Amino acid sequence: MCSTMRALVPLLSLFLLGGQAQHGSDWTYSEGALDEAHWPQHYPACGGQRQSPINLQRTKVRYNPALKGLKLTGYETQEGEFPMVNNGHTVQISLPSTMRMTAADGTVYIAQQMHFHWGGGSSKIRGSEHTVDGIRHVIEIHVVHYNSKYKSYETAQDAPDGLAVLAAFVEVKDYPENTYYSSFISHLANIRYPGQTTTLTGLDIRDMLPKNLQHYYSYHGSLTTPPCTENVHWFVLADFVKLSRTQVWKLENSLLDHHNKTIQNDYRRTQPLNHRVVESNFPNQEYTLGSEFQFYLRKIEEILEYLRRALN
Ligand SMILES: *[C@@H]1O[C@H](CO)[C@@H](O)[C@H](O)[C@H]1NC(C)=O
Repeated sequence: MCSTMRALVPLLSLFLLGGQAQHGSDWTYSEGALDEAHWPQHYPACGGQRQSPINLQRTKVRYNPALKGLKLTGYETQEGEFPMVNNGHTVQISLPSTMRMTAADGTVYIAQQMHFHWGGGSSKIRGSEHTVDGIRHVIEIHVVHYNSKYKSYETAQDAPDGLAVLAAFVEVKDYPENTYYSSFISHLANIRYPGQTTTLTGLDIRDMLPKNLQHYYSYHGSLTTPPCTENVHWFVLADFVKLSRTQVWKLENSLLDHHNKTIQNDYRRTQPLNHRVVESNFPNQEYTLGSEFQFYLRKIEEILEYLRRALN
């Protein structure tokens, strides 16, 4: 390599990196040149065959009774200070590396951050990323982890078995305030503008998750935002977090994006399943026999028993 070229290489990579950094904040869900339909042009993985989110169609989910529950350690009350940022797309909380999740196959994942996807101003507009039987839920919570065999999130994010996301849906009915969310929600006012950070003192992620952590859907997919890397082992909890309407409204109306527009509907549309199979470690309720069906089944058994006796 001649000396001019050698000098040019770092310059060129700086230029390329600069371009990437700029796109990093430029992508959007629905507006401008880099809306989600155009993500694949700048982030090729976004056009891949194993993308997330997906629709979880329960009749197609494979019940795997051998799939063990997740083991979450360090999720309970943590002392300390935890930064929370408005990154222009969502609110993100930095998590301590003492929070760990052990998957059914024994892989240990270390928590990195937690963020949210939500809908719009009216509580009728929902914003989860995964849908269940085509139904979009109100909010989706993502706890992002990296595989503990890598020394940091930065290393793991490019590895084929690098990441795992624990996801949960929020449900809103006429529930009273969920006090486990009060501190988080009151801190949103401090990070109205993108780039602003605030600090949560003390954190209990266990209490911010659904009561039942045992039942989940699992499949292999991707990050749901650019660069859409296809290295995410997804665990979507079946049970719901319950928030009050006011709490949901605050999350939907507190933060502004880079154009000073309220961040709303920050979810990606569902992606094709292609050849993937979604597994669950609990049976589909629709498949377990309803009480009416069981009533008729008992009648049939009675008739068979009657016939058997009559024939003897
Ligand atoms: C957003 O609003 C703030 C405060 O009014 C202002 O300082 C900033 O320049 C605005 N940004 C844009 C992109 O309009």
